[in-house]
Amino acid sequence: MTMQRLWALAVLLTAPLLCLSLTSSTLGLKRWSDDEHPFDTVTIAALDGSIRSRHLSLGATTINMWVPDKYGQLRDLVAGYDNLTMYLNGTRYFGPVVGRYANRIKNGTFSIPPTRYTPTNGPNVYHIPTNENNGADTLHGGTDGFDHRTWVIDAHTSNSVTYSYVDPDGREGFPGTVTTYVTYTLHNRSTWSIKMSASANSKTPILLSSHDYWNFDAWNESTSILDYNLQLSGSRVIETDGILVPTGGLQDVSGTAYDFRTARTIGSMFNDTVGFCGTGCQGYDTCWIYDELPSTEPRMSVWSSNSGIRLDIWSNQPAAQVYTCNGIQTANVTMPRKADQGGPGEIYENHSCMVIEQEGWIDAINNPQWGQDQIYGPERDYLWTSTYRFSIQQ
Ligand SMILES: *[C@@H]1O[C@H](CO)[C@@H](O)[C@H](O)[C@H]1NC(C)=O
Ligand SMILES: *[C@@H]1O[C@H](CO)[C@@H](O)[C@H](O)[C@H]1NC(C)=O
Ligand SMILES: *[C@@H]1O[C@H](CO)[C@@H](O)[C@H](O)[C@H]1NC(C)=O
Ligand SMILES: *[C@@H]1O[C@H](CO)[C@@H](O)[C@H](O)[C@H]1NC(C)=O
Ligand SMILES: *[C@@H]1O[C@H](CO)[C@@H](O)[C@H](O)[C@H]1NC(C)=O
Ligand SMILES: *[C@@H]1O[C@H](CO)[C@@H](O)[C@H](O)[C@H]1NC(C)=O
Ligand SMILES: *[C@@H]1O[C@H](CO)[C@@H](O)[C@H](O)[C@H]1NC(C)=O
Ligand SMILES: *[C@@H]1O[C@H](CO)[C@@H](O)[C@H](O)[C@H]1NC(C)=O
Repeated sequence: MTMQRLWALAVLLTAPLLCLSLTSSTLGLKRWSDDEHPFDTVTIAALDGSIRSRHLSLGATTINMWVPDKYGQLRDLVAGYDNLTMYLNGTRYFGPVVGRYANRIKNGTFSIPPTRYTPTNGPNVYHIPTNENNGADTLHGGTDGFDHRTWVIDAHTSNSVTYSYVDPDGREGFPGTVTTYVTYTLHNRSTWSIKMSASANSKTPILLSSHDYWNFDAWNESTSILDYNLQLSGSRVIETDGILVPTGGLQDVSGTAYDFRTARTIGSMFNDTVGFCGTGCQGYDTCWIYDELPSTEPRMSVWSSNSGIRLDIWSNQPAAQVYTCNGIQTANVTMPRKADQGGPGEIYENHSCMVIEQEGWIDAINNPQWGQDQIYGPERDYLWTSTYRFSIQQ
């Protein structure tokens, strides 16, 4: 039992330094076993020096991603913390792998096989801790998702690192043991490839993603992401309710502020996005379903004219969630930026970042009518691959 550690949802003052506030409403004690090293970091770089990154064993998190701008200077494009302890008590999802089932699960409940109106109880009904909206849903795998687990460094070269994590049967209520490998590789010409593979010893849902907060100027000339151009090949989005739980419907993007099939700035229809990220919220927090494309075509692209940095993404995933950091900064919770992004005096502000997640259709485990099979097991392994290519927009 190498991965075992104690986890108590109570304020236990026996180890004050490890007693940290995890969310606004939860206090927790986290104590690791002697062979776990949550704060180990690994730095990797492409052989040609065109991209460099740093990762943390806690959550298999990406802490820094340095990419050259149009002047040839490397910039750190992802939000994070210089103080690694903040990965425990700050905003939860700065750069980790999210799972075992990312995004929202309606009422924290699903069945295997999935049903449209999941019964409250039954032999194949599972309940995951609900950690959002006063218990109305589960976000990113529950109270103690993959982002807060200590991953093991399995392999490490100058341009690649592989993490693994064994998620035991029953942890956070999920059935079956799931073994996951995540490999980050940096290739010449500023290319980041991510591979996540998982196998399960009994039937269980799996939906993983890489949860990075991007600012393609590195919070330098401008902090707003609203002037970036975005192109996203999705004709449909998953319709959600006021707390962002899928309703079961799909919406055509034509004539709406969801339509990025032709490149335009993220802010160009921003006034029409009120309600898009939940009741009363302005901005995107949306799952687009990708259209069928030749595999040579990027599925989405985004670029900033300030830094000149452009990102093109290829993925084997059928959908992408984009969140425009609506409400990341509130009156009582602010996150200091990293020093290379103007911190710690400056903070991560609303709409100063965008999360881009390649993933499966969200909450398809409560929407079998979509025909997306997200149940894996001994007969079926899970595979997620994406390539992020950075270049200078001409
Ligand atoms: C922040 O303020 C909100 C609204 O006043 C409150 O509900 C929440 O508990 C506060 N969070 C913390 C960490 O104080
Ligand atoms: C990557 O760049 C390095 C340094 O320029 C070079 O030695 C190597 O052959 C390149 N690798 C590939 C696969 O092109
Ligand atoms: C780092 O963060 C932790 C937890 O938020 C805090 O207790 C500690 O004082 C911080 N350390 C520094 C050097 O700021
Ligand atoms: C994390 O802890 C530090 C030091 O205790 C505190 O200054 C900071 O506000 C906390 N951050 C959050 C988001 O709770
Ligand atoms: C949500 O799940 C709980 C059991 O965890 C159940 O008691 C409740 O009725 C469910 N709510 C809805 C709206 O289905
Ligand atoms: C902003 O980017 C420019 C161009 O790379 C660089 O010269 C400058 O030092 C950067 N400013 C900050 C505060 O990092
Ligand atoms: C959005 O609304 C604000 C305030 O009503 C207005 O000043 C601005 O011009 C609008 N922007 C666009 C792009 O329509
Ligand atoms: C950021 O957004 C949140 C949620 O909409 C809001 O409560 C907060 O006032 C905003 N912060 C600023 C500085 O506008």
